[in-house]
Amino acid sequence: MPILEVQNIHKSFDSTEVLRDISFSLERGQALAVIGSSGSGKTTLLRCLNFLETPDGGKIIVNGETLFDADAPAGRNDAETRAKRLHFGMVFQQFNLFPQYTALENVMLASQLLAEQRPDYKQDRRAILEGIEHHAIDLLDQMSLSGRMNHYPHQLSGGQQQRVAIARALALKPDILCFDEPTSALDPELTGEVLRVIRSLADQHMTMIIVTHEMAFARDVADHVVFMDGGVIVEQGTPEQVFADTQNERTRSFLSRYAQNS
Ligand SMILES: Nc1ncnc2c1ncn2[C@@H]1O[C@H](COP(=O)(O)OP(=O)(O)OP(=O)(O)O)[C@@H](O)[C@H]1O
Ligand SMILES: [Mg+2]
Repeated sequence: MPILEVQNIHKSFDSTEVLRDISFSLERGQALAVIGSSGSGKTTLLRCLNFLETPDGGKIIVNGETLFDADAPAGRNDAETRAKRLHFGMVFQQFNLFPQYTALENVMLASQLLAEQRPDYKQDRRAILEGIEHHAIDLLDQMSLSGRMNHYPHQLSGGQQQRVAIARALALKPDILCFDEPTSALDPELTGEVLRVIRSLADQHMTMIIVTHEMAFARDVADHVVFMDGGVIVEQGTPEQVFADTQNERTRSFLSRYAQNS
């Protein structure tokens, strides 16, 4: 069973269709790269998966559980929406760290807020908070940031901030980690360090959806590639199929424009 099934997602803003009949599935432990020109709907797709936008049509199924079905709208229950969001983690282009908190505090914050909802929180507060701190320290270690835990965002490079943001997303143990152009705001030398972290997550079989303009990286790391244009998936397949045996004219022209510019 795929970990994620996206079925016939539609989304319009005002009367403009931004996503049209988007369907794909993703197996556990695989990395999906989403590529496509500006305005093709990539960010909107990730926002729909993360419940930051509500699709107008379609279904989102995770681990066989229907999290969203436009034909059977659930009542607006905030606790339920929050629980559904936890299946997905999101790393944005702009790292969006809280400037007043250290790297470690940024990574711990959401887990602490969630822990406060636990029925055993009052009783086991100290142990729960220690567990959260240990996990956050481990994650920052994995991001090679052990010496930076107590630094504030303004004391960190963009690449370091983005690695904190990745640790923060991992802290909630998402089933699927989504990246929206994680390196577009970074200088080339900092891009490499963030891509290395994402590659090591792929090696550890983290299930990921990566929107990227780094074609060589997508080709190298992804198990499956989706090419979007004008709100539709015009081509999808293995990296070999999409990059080396391109069938669709729009994909071909996008890739050749890309090759010329890089
Ligand atoms: N909240 C919104 N309200 C109205 N229109 C929106 C909104 N969000 C996105 N759009 C429009 O939806 C279309 C798709 O936008 P989206 O940001 O998903 O594209 P993208 O593929 O991520 O582009 P880019 O590569 O530039 O990030 C665009 O035409 C955009 O202007
Ligand atoms: Mg975008």
